[in-house]
Amino acid sequence: MDRVYLDHSATTPLRPEVREAMLPFLGAQFGNPGSLHWFGRQACHALEDAREMVAAFIGAESREIIFTSGGTEANNLALSSISACYAGDAPRLALSAVEHPSVLRVGPVYAERAEIYLNVLPVDAQGRVTPETLRRYVNPNTVLLSLMFGNNETGVLQPVAEAAARCDETGTLYHCDAVQAAGVVPLNVGRLGVHLLTLSAHKIGGPKGVGCLYVNHDVPLEPLIVGGSQERRRRGGTENVAAIAGFAKACELAQHRLEGEAKRLAQLRDRLEQGLLARVKDVRVNSAAAERLPHLLNIAFEGIENERLLLALDEHGVAVSTGPACSSGGADPSHVLLAMGQTHSQARSALRFSLGWTTTPAEIDHVLDVLPPLVENLRR
Ligand SMILES: Cc1ncc(COP(=O)(O)O)c(C=O)c1O
Repeated sequence: MDRVYLDHSATTPLRPEVREAMLPFLGAQFGNPGSLHWFGRQACHALEDAREMVAAFIGAESREIIFTSGGTEANNLALSSISACYAGDAPRLALSAVEHPSVLRVGPVYAERAEIYLNVLPVDAQGRVTPETLRRYVNPNTVLLSLMFGNNETGVLQPVAEAAARCDETGTLYHCDAVQAAGVVPLNVGRLGVHLLTLSAHKIGGPKGVGCLYVNHDVPLEPLIVGGSQERRRRGGTENVAAIAGFAKACELAQHRLEGEAKRLAQLRDRLEQGLLARVKDVRVNSAAAERLPHLLNIAFEGIENERLLLALDEHGVAVSTGPACSSGGADPSHVLLAMGQTHSQARSALRFSLGWTTTPAEIDHVLDVLPPLVENLRR
């Protein structure tokens, strides 16, 4: 068997249909969507068609979509918006301890700049923010809550409905990072009750370097990148039309395949999880008792340094990860597992397997054959 790629949470291979959709804009249709002439108008039509497709994917209006350079920029933009809308005597920003670094690291920066307090919401041993925690930390002084849909390391689902209801009670803006949930969970911003939502194309079979922030039309927003009047003056810079066209195609495909794909991935993930539990001693599935995204499995191999197992698997053609790709190279244990109350050595024994549109049952069975002897070797 060729190489097996089980790191779809880091990035997914480009879907062939997406590549096709991008090609015209890398060729004859090269215009700048801001230009008034024919070339510009062609690009502008493509951009607005793409905006409608992305908006339809999450039940938004097209004017509520701001294209960005990806999930990181969208998350930064969402948090920077607090400076445009805070009110009250002691305004607060709230975010969970298990957010992606593009929320967690930027939160303190914007809180300090806007001179507002920051509350970092703790999680339980499964990695969830509890309804009690929401009630405790989200109050009428909370300007913005950032709580993700599903975690990128454990897959754990956060109580989005409860968070939206609490924000409704307290007049708080709710930002939800749905980067990992897109394509496997139906997303409808109206039904979810969120005010801001982040998507990234390369996690759903689209190209890297493009994503969007949904911003409810009632929400005031300061641009993070200031320049021309692109994106209704909310994000300066000539739009990457080819990447945006690919992003829109990826959303369309994800929408059509969502239900079947979520079920297929859950079955494959369960096959992997049960197979590992049956074949390898002393393993622990992280967030096992919680509802999780269907494509993620985070599992700890007691007594083993995760990086050594990752490299051994890589030598045997299997690609997995120890956590987010953006922090690879760093020796720090996962902030998500630490927030769940795990020790450094427990957190350092966990591997993330993330499945996606290319994953097959034969690949899962291959991993189940290859992995147990590697664990035994490393433990010896
Ligand atoms: C939950 C989550 N949010 C945000 C991002 C950042 O997205 P991008 O790579 O498009 O900047 C990622 C990427 O790993 C992610 O998993």
